Amino acid sequence: MQPLQCVLQAHRSLKWGPMSSVSWLLLRTCRAHGSVPSSSCLSPEGQSSGGVEKDFSSRLAAGPTFQHFLRSASVLQEKPSSPEVEDPPPYLTGDELLGRQRKVYLETYGCQMNVNDTEIAWSILQKSGYQRTSNLQEADVILLVTCSIREKAEQTIWNRLHQLKALKTKRPRSRVPLRIGILGCMAERLKGEILNREKMVDLLAGPDAYRDLPRLLAVVESGQQAANVLLSLDETYADIMPVQTSPSATSAFVSIMRGCDNMCSYCIVPFTRGRERSRPVASILEEVRKLSEQGLKEVTLLGQNVNSFRDNSEIQFNNAVSTNLSRGFTTNYKTKQGGLRFSHLLDQVSRIDPEMRIRFTSPHPKDFPDEVLQLIHERHNICKQIHLPAQSGSTRVLDAMRRGYSREAYVALVHHIRECIPGVSLSSDFITGFCGETEDDHLQTVSLLREVQYNAGFLFAYSMRKKTRAYHRLKDDVPEEVKLRRLEELITVFREEASRANEASVGCTQLVLVEGFSKRSSTDLCGRNDANLKVIFPDAEVEDITNSGLRVRAQPGDYVLVKITSASSQTLKGHILCRTTMKDSSMYCLT
Ligand code: 5AD
Ligand code: SF4
Repeated sequence: MQPLQCVLQAHRSLKWGPMSSVSWLLLRTCRAHGSVPSSSCLSPEGQSSGGVEKDFSSRLAAGPTFQHFLRSASVLQEKPSSPEVEDPPPYLTGDELLGRQRKVYLETYGCQMNVNDTEIAWSILQKSGYQRTSNLQEADVILLVTCSIREKAEQTIWNRLHQLKALKTKRPRSRVPLRIGILGCMAERLKGEILNREKMVDLLAGPDAYRDLPRLLAVVESGQQAANVLLSLDETYADIMPVQTSPSATSAFVSIMRGCDNMCSYCIVPFTRGRERSRPVASILEEVRKLSEQGLKEVTLLGQNVNSFRDNSEIQFNNAVSTNLSRGFTTNYKTKQGGLRFSHLLDQVSRIDPEMRIRFTSPHPKDFPDEVLQLIHERHNICKQIHLPAQSGSTRVLDAMRRGYSREAYVALVHHIRECIPGVSLSSDFITGFCGETEDDHLQTVSLLREVQYNAGFLFAYSMRKKTRAYHRLKDDVPEEVKLRRLEELITVFREEASRANEASVGCTQLVLVEGFSKRSSTDLCGRNDANLKVIFPDAEVEDITNSGLRVRAQPGDYVLVKITSASSQTLKGHILCRTTMKDSSMYCLT
């Protein structure tokens, strides 16, 4: 389905000091469920585009035409497999689109999706002739890949921008001017507000606009600000293989879907990352195959709602057998039909390399049909670790959050998962102090933590976000100090329960994938067990059980057996027994 879109571009006059104008792209996406998250057609000042200035017509005549933008929008949709900028826009020469070895410094904030997006953005810039630097001082372009999920995440970026301002103003005239760009969720949420508040920001690119980075940077080079916050209905960057930055890396993230249709009432993600869309299975499998050939030992399938995956890219996929929601769960959107679902993808991915561990994050509890649970149980290389974000232990709060389940349905799912996958490790996300949360609601959340005994948790104080349903309909009425006190209480309970759950591992032998030396000691190695818990153990010469008689020191990417001797809420310690493979380790009875 093609997006119904309105593309607006406006060149504005000299109002912002050294910047003479801004090249601006916005998309109005018509959303099936009636809300309009991406943008209305705003000018960079956040006003309606009706406020035309004196020289606007002449500037518009000299700039690209409306047709050009319609054309480039459809080119992107028709040729997703061609990230290189082949046909430069009429107002930029091919040469101007090249990076000319300018050095780019990328800084990532927020979730794993942003880590992956950073690599996508870099892959696009690298093809365009940019170089990457890890030294801020030698950078010609600084790009911040940003997060909007909570106010604090955005405040961090504003503080960082103040620091970077000094770097920009102190830049000697002998060097090319330093350019600063905001990428990702904050660019999408705040749009022109960023350009207004921080005049030294040169470039904005929303999460679906990274293919446009070479053009945006070329516009910036000509002394204008440039922005593209178009949201797409089908951009998955399927053809862009993220650059593996660390050659010694043992694991990689593979993006399988983008966006979110859930519309939980507290969440900004559907507004910053747009509609849910899945990457075609074939391109995911190709990327995993390449990573396996490179010797990587672990992939994590990544997305806002990974298990809602639905590849509809080919007509025949619509005949696929439809899968059910988890029992007792509902959605905020109309039931979707057909497509290749997550269980199919997980099955295919796990068959590529039996020595490669498969994880996925972040799932939604509504999409755990039995076939997914069965597959996790059966397949030895799919980790027995499930993130099951609950958000609250109170049905009343869950309703206000529009999560689509009650506490009882969630607890029933936990029991069902534990029956299907004995020994499974569970983690969760919780928000404290959501609109209307009473002390009794909070105590129900505490009791859920006690009941489930998660192995790991991510806890947050509620942060009201504009545009969300909670912002429009509910009152952010829990005082900040109460939110923080409840947060502290949840952290304490989580730690106690996680320590207890992890202590059950003491005395067991576990399969650990070695990552490298421990940060705290060069005589200790560090790796992760199947549950994704950090395991620390002394580096010692051990037998390689697949080559009997051979004595080895474990290297990053090796599987080793470790006898666990102690546990805390976040780490296990032990001693190494031998080097092995995933296949050989399955012959041992790991307890
Ligand atoms: N305030 C606090 N936490 C939030 N999260 C999402 N939106 C908000 C918000 N407005 C949390 C949820 C989600 C995790 C990624 O971030 O727990 O699962
Ligand atoms: Fe932050 Fe959510 Fe955007 Fe990730 S998707 S960067 S968590 S707002």
